Amino acid sequence: MEIPPALIELLRNAERAVALTGAGVSQESGVPTFRDAQIGLWAQYRPEDLATPEAFQRNPKLVWDWYAERRAKVNTVEPNPGHHALAEMGRRIPSFILITQNVDGLHQKAGSREVIELHGNIRRVKCSECGQNAIRWQENSPEVPRCFSCGGLLRPDVVWFGEMLPAGALEAAAAAARNCRVFFSIGTSGLVQPAASLAYAAKSRGAALVEINLEPTPLTPLADFCLHGRAGQILPKLVGAVWG
Ligand code: OAD
Repeated sequence: MEIPPALIELLRNAERAVALTGAGVSQESGVPTFRDAQIGLWAQYRPEDLATPEAFQRNPKLVWDWYAERRAKVNTVEPNPGHHALAEMGRRIPSFILITQNVDGLHQKAGSREVIELHGNIRRVKCSECGQNAIRWQENSPEVPRCFSCGGLLRPDVVWFGEMLPAGALEAAAAAARNCRVFFSIGTSGLVQPAASLAYAAKSRGAALVEINLEPTPLTPLADFCLHGRAGQILPKLVGAVWG
């Protein structure tokens, strides 16, 4: 996979860049994606049975346990070269904002500083009643743990289908997308709104669109540069080609 010289030149001179990342960036750390056929999370479970307020209402223990299992998994994995390359990009480009749909916290663990978590963070837990974040909770309790303040059921601090995104996150992400020279879409199928609309917003304001993904997505026809392959291989190669 060669890095196009025009892209190298563009990044060497870019003052402002934005990256939107999805599950594909964490896949090489061992975190399952959502829609990869057969291995993705949604290939085994139905989102509506696990990742909606209704699912939690219907069966809080099932939903709590599924996220507790994913949280335990996420606590054992490390950032991969793709995460580290994005952290380096953040050190090299004067204004670099990383918007992620991922809830694993691996970008921050790799050293990325300006991270907007559009879908929350699975390592955090909050009360389903009063919304207060829990400082600690019993992880393997037979019942779903309850809030120390109000006694409500605790839940993962992630966005479920049909829920609003964290206040301010989408506005900050949209403002960044409208005000950048280069917009990366990395490791995402580009199917979930409103995250998927950010690339179009950037493009409409004249940004160059770079897609780095294992397979084509609905965004591919719009991209100025398409680097199809593993993010953990392409991103370090890109950073090496631009900044040596
Ligand atoms: P998906 O599973 O929908 O898409 C992951 C994309 O990454 C796919 O296009 C894969 O081809 C690609 N991919 C897989 N491994 C890769 C690798 N090593 N390098 C590069 N690309 C790779 O995951 P997302 O697009 O992140 O939201 O899903 C978006 C949202 O839908 C998630 O945040 C989650 C999910 O439902 C909520 O739960 C609210």
